[in-house]
Amino acid sequence: MTVRCRVLLLCVLGASIGRAAPVLGQVTSTDSIAVAKGKALFHGKGLCFSCHGKEGEGLLAPSTRLAGRVLVHTKPTLPELIALIKTGVDSAHSSITQSMPERGGSRMTDTEVEAVAKYVMELQKRAPPR
Ligand code: HEC
Repeated sequence: MTVRCRVLLLCVLGASIGRAAPVLGQVTSTDSIAVAKGKALFHGKGLCFSCHGKEGEGLLAPSTRLAGRVLVHTKPTLPELIALIKTGVDSAHSSITQSMPERGGSRMTDTEVEAVAKYVMELQKRAPPR
């Protein structure tokens, strides 16, 4: 390979990296930031992990699995999930004797609930963890 050729190759590489940068910018959209925030809340302040498991695998009972499972109390859409998380599930409606407290018993704000709901939508798309 001649020097000139190598320089040309670098230019071509440089140009394609330059073009890739804005694409990477799009991947880090406000939504994926919300999902990342939701994940942190699910594992922390929101207390969701304590009943649903860290990977949404269902800790209390198989019915509390959120990953890759068809939901029975709500639809997997953003407004419906937000509503369910805010209200919780009372014991009369729960398929196990235990209820889900409002906001999981946490003090999450509405913005935080929305982020968690986006993370639950992500969990929904996953295959159930083994
Ligand atoms: C104290 C335990 C507990 C905590 C904490 C908790 N949940 Fe739940 N959750 C439940 C129970 C119990 C059910 C109903 C399970 C059943 O019917 O068998 C439920 C149901 C759900 C459902 C509906 C599942 C379906 O099949 O329709 C979603 C979504 C959900 N929880 C999300 C969350 C999120 C997000 C958090 C955190 C903010 C959270 N939960 C915190 C116990 C909990």
